[in-house]
Amino acid sequence: MSGLQQMDNRVSRASNLLLRSVVLGAGSCLPKRIVSNADLEKTLDTTDAWIIQRTGIKQRHVAAEDEPTSRLGLLAAEAALGEAGLKPQDLDLVLVATSTPDYTFPATATQIQAMLGMTNGAAFDLQAVCSGFIFALAAADKFLTSGSHKRALVVGAETFSRLLDWTDRRTCVLFGDGAGALVLEAREGAGTSSDRGVLTTQLRSDGRHRDKLYVDGGPSMTQTTGHLRMAGREVFRHAVGMVTDVVSQAFAATGTCAGDLDWFVPHQANRRIIDASAEKLGIAPNKVVVTIDLHGNTSAASIPLALAVARGDGRIKRGDLVMIEAMGGGFTWASALIRW
Ligand code: UT7
Repeated sequence: MSGLQQMDNRVSRASNLLLRSVVLGAGSCLPKRIVSNADLEKTLDTTDAWIIQRTGIKQRHVAAEDEPTSRLGLLAAEAALGEAGLKPQDLDLVLVATSTPDYTFPATATQIQAMLGMTNGAAFDLQAVCSGFIFALAAADKFLTSGSHKRALVVGAETFSRLLDWTDRRTCVLFGDGAGALVLEAREGAGTSSDRGVLTTQLRSDGRHRDKLYVDGGPSMTQTTGHLRMAGREVFRHAVGMVTDVVSQAFAATGTCAGDLDWFVPHQANRRIIDASAEKLGIAPNKVVVTIDLHGNTSAASIPLALAVARGDGRIKRGDLVMIEAMGGGFTWASALIRW
């Protein structure tokens, strides 16, 4: 189905307007403790030079014991609500994308809901690893644009440090902890790419790639949490093609092109993947938001963290056209085009 047909299906018969999920606020939270590459050199057979050259990462934040995923997500949510000028009671939907929930159940989303003091609406978790935030944004967008819900909090929050094998230099240098959040509201738009809000979401997955990036534990298989395992070169080999495909599909669905973008906010997995994707898509380097140097790969948190950084420092302004994309375990991969 084409993007235009999708838009037509959502047109309100009464007003000839359609509902859009408009971003009202963005927020983020990073744990206090910073671990530099030099810190890792002390315990691992690695170097600052190798990590920077192969990944672009200089440091990452690592959560303390009293900073679980829900705590990071809560603080990001409060910051997003602050920018939106809304109270928790104004929300009726909370979605949390995470692969590192506080507990196997209940959902981290219901923990955050409770900590916000919110007793109305619905809250649930959603897991698509590094693409999780875009999958959650897409889900929230469907709720809001169907008219069933009015305001959604979408959080990406992770404590990946808890999943790492800190003796495995091929993986432990890559990841960090953090959280980011957006508050969205259903508002009427004209149905064109000039509307504010989420203009399209493009989601893909292919479970045949499971063994290239996975955690070797879980309640049903091992009754343990397990550790992250990755065939890095294999993941790298697929990443650029997958993300550029879904970004091209987002352009096609909305009748836009790379030249229309104000900001490109990719998942922050590897600086070389980010640069190669932007180059292949014809996106100028000065339009690319990069946080990997300071955050590392924070999985589902990386995009909302980067959005909050670029919003907070004044780069992303109301009306800007922002493309987000991600690829990760599963494999899953996704893009979304948002007019801020
Ligand atoms: O967010 C989810 C998606 N994830 C990704 O997108 C990650 C994709 N993959 C990558 O980013 C890269 O593949 C890595 C950064 C993980 C690895 O970079 P690479 O250029 O693909 O390196 P490699 O795995 O081919 O390893 C090259 C060499 C190896 O040594 P030998 O076998 O050539 O002697 C590794 O053992 O680098 C070695 N190496 C390291 N050396 C120093 C691997 N990790 C390290 C390290 N420090 N931390």
